[in-house]
Amino acid sequence: MVEKQFPENFLWGAATSSHQIEGYNTNQWTRWEKKNASRLAKTAEQKINSEKETGRRTPDWDKVSGEATEPENYISGKATNHKERFPEDIQIASDLNLDVYRFSIEWSRIEPEKGEIDEEAIDFYHKLLDELEKHEIEPFVTLHHFTNPKWFADEGGFAARNPSDWDKYIQTIAEEFGERVDNWITVNEPNVYALNSFLVGRWPPAKKNPVKYLRVLNNMAEFHRDAYEVLEGKDTVIGVSSSTMFFDSAGGLLNDFLASKSADHWNHRFVEDIMPQLDFIGVNFYNRRKVDRGFYGNGFEKTSDVGWEIYPEGVYHVLKEMDRYDLPIFITENGLADSEDEYREDYLKQVLSHCHQAIEDGVDLQGYMHWSLLDNFEWDSGFWPRFGLVEVDYDTYERKIRESAETYAKITGQNYLDIDEDQD
Ligand code: BGC
Repeated sequence: MVEKQFPENFLWGAATSSHQIEGYNTNQWTRWEKKNASRLAKTAEQKINSEKETGRRTPDWDKVSGEATEPENYISGKATNHKERFPEDIQIASDLNLDVYRFSIEWSRIEPEKGEIDEEAIDFYHKLLDELEKHEIEPFVTLHHFTNPKWFADEGGFAARNPSDWDKYIQTIAEEFGERVDNWITVNEPNVYALNSFLVGRWPPAKKNPVKYLRVLNNMAEFHRDAYEVLEGKDTVIGVSSSTMFFDSAGGLLNDFLASKSADHWNHRFVEDIMPQLDFIGVNFYNRRKVDRGFYGNGFEKTSDVGWEIYPEGVYHVLKEMDRYDLPIFITENGLADSEDEYREDYLKQVLSHCHQAIEDGVDLQGYMHWSLLDNFEWDSGFWPRFGLVEVDYDTYERKIRESAETYAKITGQNYLDIDEDQD
């Protein structure tokens, strides 16, 4: 066993987002869910049947097939009922010895109609912040995590030439919570959002339009700059959560070229666009893409429930890559869908071991937030993928701390990681 000590002020945490856990939302996504639930369930059924025939199994349908073929799986509804159970959830975060908790504010709740602020929603986030304060957990607050108020979406959302106003929302957040929150994340994964919603048409509003795709990225950069200007303050740090991938070249000039160009676009384009209004970089890491003669594949030797490759060392490469900006880095998301908690503990330890190595090699990594604190609503896949340190029973909304979470709590409590050398 080797003991890997983390820096004294290293921040341990977990992350969530409003739409995925709160419940009772009404936004552009809930509208889309209702329209698409039956289609998504049917597509899952067809996929399961065809994959049974071919013997291929990604995702691992055996574990989830019942849920994935039910339309209700795709309706966020009460989600994890965090809206009512948040004190219990923050108590759990405290039991896991977390220093920080990343959550998002739901714009559609704060400003359900254009220009109209809902005091009840404001009150909810104050109460959530009270709970965090009580447990001495520092908030990292995201302003936009994939969901929009319906009125904003109806006016074209981020794809509009002149998008509708977000000033009122940002101003309200600053006035209400500016004194209570020091760490802000303006937008979550603009690259993933723009890609899925405006280029591949998988998420609402399901557009396949390269012009809109680029416009969304530009407008989200504008949102970031506006928020930066309003939120900037003495003790405030403001960043972005960026989806980063490890583009792993299979070797040779062409593959090297493609891998580096892909990284330039995916990992760096947005970040470069919002410099110098950036105090830290939030790295969300899940995937490696193996680049071989124009094909972008995955290794499939070991996969999570959703069929994503389990490749912990990728985190080291993206950390080294994102260190070029000389800004503090936080991992603002990393985790895996693992309903039986079979791989999570080992994955977590491996990832943390690579994070430790990156720190030793000079990367200014200041914290790690696991995705996710709770099982939650995984966008167009619905409830079946289980990303939580904590299991949620969707019939009773009971929470159960998974074994891997106990291990995480030990690491967060002692600020070091015990790991077998040959496992490393
Ligand atoms: C998103 C999360 C999502 C996670 C797992 C990230 O792209 O920010 O909302 O649940 O990946 O898919």
